[in-house]
Amino acid sequence: MAISKVGVFTSGGDSPGMNAAIRAVVRACIYHKLDVYGIYHGYDGMIAGEIELLTGRSVSNIIHRGGTILKSARSKEFMTEAGRKKAFNNLKKHQIDAVVAIGGDGTFTGANIFAKEFNIPIIGLPGTIDNDLNGTDYTIGYDTAVNTAALAIDKIRDTASSHNRLFFIEVMGRHSGQIAIRCAIAAGAEAVMIPEVPMDIDELVAVLEMGANKKSSSLVVVAEGGKTGQSIDIAKEVHERFAHYDTKVTILGHTQRGGTPTVNDRVLSSRLGVAAVEGLLKGKQGCMVGIVNNKIKFTPFEKAITKVNNLDKELLRIAEILSV
Ligand code: F6P
Repeated sequence: MAISKVGVFTSGGDSPGMNAAIRAVVRACIYHKLDVYGIYHGYDGMIAGEIELLTGRSVSNIIHRGGTILKSARSKEFMTEAGRKKAFNNLKKHQIDAVVAIGGDGTFTGANIFAKEFNIPIIGLPGTIDNDLNGTDYTIGYDTAVNTAALAIDKIRDTASSHNRLFFIEVMGRHSGQIAIRCAIAAGAEAVMIPEVPMDIDELVAVLEMGANKKSSSLVVVAEGGKTGQSIDIAKEVHERFAHYDTKVTILGHTQRGGTPTVNDRVLSSRLGVAAVEGLLKGKQGCMVGIVNNKIKFTPFEKAITKVNNLDKELLRIAEILSV
């Protein structure tokens, strides 16, 4: 069936570059003479019928803005069959015959079920700061989040070295250590604690002691690892057992989700948005579009959301070598 009306939405945790992705989808649709509808508040808005026709001008002046003009949500109702039925009826009401979903694994889990249930073509764009999807080297927002974290750690370094302190800086990523490893290297941290390669307190202290006589301060990047605030427990334990460390904790939290997207994220979003629309026109569906080795790649949703430990261990080795 030929596609003539496309719906686009953002869902799950927002990520910098989502606006650039929306813009790319909208403009690629218009370029290819398709009508394009914005669906607000993710799946919740699809269920509630918050759907509006967009024009090329609807997405003017947003390429550089963080957040998402379409808003976002983590929908509970879409997990129910009744919710998905309502959502489908709203798409039908606007004669939307294909959808572009911008989000992460939760978004694609829902899209996968929905696409099969109602036989509707859906292509996903990887929009998450976590960089935890299969089938793309980088997700939209990851580069910006890493830059935000690295710049924050630079600032912490100044105060840490002024007071000879040991700082634990907790970064986001849910179950992934991707943000942690990259900002740790970029900011020159002494150690990085990530879920993919767990490190206990004895190992951590052994690393810190190696530099104890040479360094005025130390920075340890901790990935949240599915438990926000765990850096507080780690810092406490280190201080209880090794009282000579003056420990402090900074949890960077949602600062990593906002802000102006980097050039890398804007270009990634632009490439993926165009590829998604052109993919739909070529009959692609039920998949996420990503970039692997600088080439566009379509990966079935089932595979894109499979949790694999895709952390580049070489980066860990580099972080270790450079912290001597
Ligand atoms: O998936 C993006 C992310 O920012 C994770 O890194 C983090 O664990 C989670 O979302 C936080 O979610 P929320 O904004 O709903 O608290």
